[in-house]
Amino acid sequence: MWTKLNPLLPYMRKYWRGYVVGSVCTVAANAIRVQIPRILGAAGDDMLKKGVTWQKIYHYAGELIVIAIAYSILLYLMRWILIGISRDIEFDLRNDLFRQLEKQSSSYYQEHRTGDIMARMTNDLSAVRNVLGPAIMYTANTVMFSAMALYYLLRISPFLTLTALAPMPLVSILIQYMGRKIHERFERIQAMFSDISAQAQENFSGARLVRAFAQEEAQIQAFERSNQEYIRRALRLVRLMGMLWPTLEFVLGLSMVIALLVGGHEVLAHRIGIGQFITFTMFMYMLMWPIIALGYVINLFERGTASMMRIHELLTAEPSIEDRGATVAAETEIRGEVEFRDLHFAYPVETGDPVEVLHGISLTVPAGSSLALVGPTGSGKSTLVSLIPRLYDAPPGSVLVDGRPVRAYPLDTLRRAVGLVPQETFLFSTTIRENIAFGVEHAEMPGVLRAAEAAHIREEVEQFPHGFETMVGERGLTLSGGQKQRTALARAVVRDPRILILDDALASVDTYTEERILEELRRVMQGRTTILISHRISTVRNADRIAVLVRGRIAELGTHDELLARNGYYAELFRKQLLEEELAVSG
Ligand SMILES: Nc1ncnc2c1ncn2[C@@H]1O[C@H](COP(=O)(O)OP(=O)(O)O)[C@@H](O)[C@H]1O
Ligand SMILES: [Mg+2]
Repeated sequence: MWTKLNPLLPYMRKYWRGYVVGSVCTVAANAIRVQIPRILGAAGDDMLKKGVTWQKIYHYAGELIVIAIAYSILLYLMRWILIGISRDIEFDLRNDLFRQLEKQSSSYYQEHRTGDIMARMTNDLSAVRNVLGPAIMYTANTVMFSAMALYYLLRISPFLTLTALAPMPLVSILIQYMGRKIHERFERIQAMFSDISAQAQENFSGARLVRAFAQEEAQIQAFERSNQEYIRRALRLVRLMGMLWPTLEFVLGLSMVIALLVGGHEVLAHRIGIGQFITFTMFMYMLMWPIIALGYVINLFERGTASMMRIHELLTAEPSIEDRGATVAAETEIRGEVEFRDLHFAYPVETGDPVEVLHGISLTVPAGSSLALVGPTGSGKSTLVSLIPRLYDAPPGSVLVDGRPVRAYPLDTLRRAVGLVPQETFLFSTTIRENIAFGVEHAEMPGVLRAAEAAHIREEVEQFPHGFETMVGERGLTLSGGQKQRTALARAVVRDPRILILDDALASVDTYTEERILEELRRVMQGRTTILISHRISTVRNADRIAVLVRGRIAELGTHDELLARNGYYAELFRKQLLEEELAVSG
């Protein structure tokens, strides 16, 4: 069990000074505390043999007060230092967790549920903190006190000590056996808690969908079922813990009875004095609580190790896409030529055979030119463009920028040069300005305004109650699909990318506005590379070249006029849309 906590050692090492001071306080506090039974014993002896006087009472009371004060101060210091360290480590761990999760590729978040990750970052993290703080502190305290008490007990009477402590191995066996059970049950509880969190999170994020399909009742029932399973598992732990504590109390009570019986016998036989008897029973009594607390501490350790393993999983998951293979300098200027060289691609799968979705694509987009991609849904357009900023990794050497494999660039350099407006827009719950300025270190307002203008969203935003400072997303205004898309476009434009990719990013914008945006973009993107995915002929016809992708293969490639002359998929699409337009005009 202990080795499972090893990942914590590097974190603890950082605070070794605190641990040293905390340990000194713990030793000192307990050295002072063990004096209490001794003083009471001495007082008992003294008064029995030489009579009771007020002076003696004040004297012993005074001693006890001084001890109480010193002990309290040391106890306070110990808690403050040791619990403080656990908070500091929790802080470090949380930062590392977030950093690690930010590095994961997008496929990681397809394989892991958000709620589960959230549960590990909250519940499990606090279970680990309980190990680092209270569990370590109680253990140190108990061990110190027991060791010192044992020293005095043995000095009074080894025989009495051995007999009174005879039931102790039973306690140890009990705690070990129960500890394992607790660990198992706690793991099952945490797993269920992750499930519940994920369920709740998906329902909140998908609130609109759930309402639209009138699935509230069904979802409530499903949640209740999970919640029931959770409580069932939690109650199994409660039952176990409920058994552990009284059993411990009973065994320890047994010790107390033995101490009284055997101790009384020893006093009668004049082998120990009354004062020593008082001291002994007092120590036995003081030992009971820490040993019972040990049961609680074991529980904390069990929970903590189970949780630490779950956190360790997150911390050690290697990001599937990283830039260890980078060979060019971070400052390398990217001109913007994109090349696919006999590219075959299949999405990574956990089980089974990967299915190839792109089959031998060879295509070059010269720097500064524009390429339009058309083709049926599912033909691989989004997949193809996602390989340029390495959202997924293509086989080495099959995707190149400026003649170099994309893997040769540090991720930051590559991705800074690429502005991708994805098919599904995502806005953060913050202001429109911050949403647009996302990813730009020093975004000045003029830059944001220019980008907003290029995306034809500026006027609309300025009419919002707070203009560009209007909050959007979960904490504010809900934008229409078209407004969201244009905001996302402004976000890509403001970064002034060498390669701009619009993945069907204007599908929710009306044709008229789209044409004006494209006109504006042509001006802004002069000398930059643009890749446009769209279903609309009006969008793609002015591109330098148009590629038709069908079932993962390039079926046609050329200019608008060339493709019309070929009389293939593109020409067909053109005729259909022409017909639709005529119908719309005449209708
Ligand atoms: N993240 C993914 N994991 C596995 N398969 C995917 C993923 N995204 C897309 N696909 C599959 O890849 C194929 C191409 O999809 P996509 O590139 O989105 O097509 P398009 O953008 O042309 O509509 C589809 O068969 C789709 O099911
Ligand atoms: Mg797509």
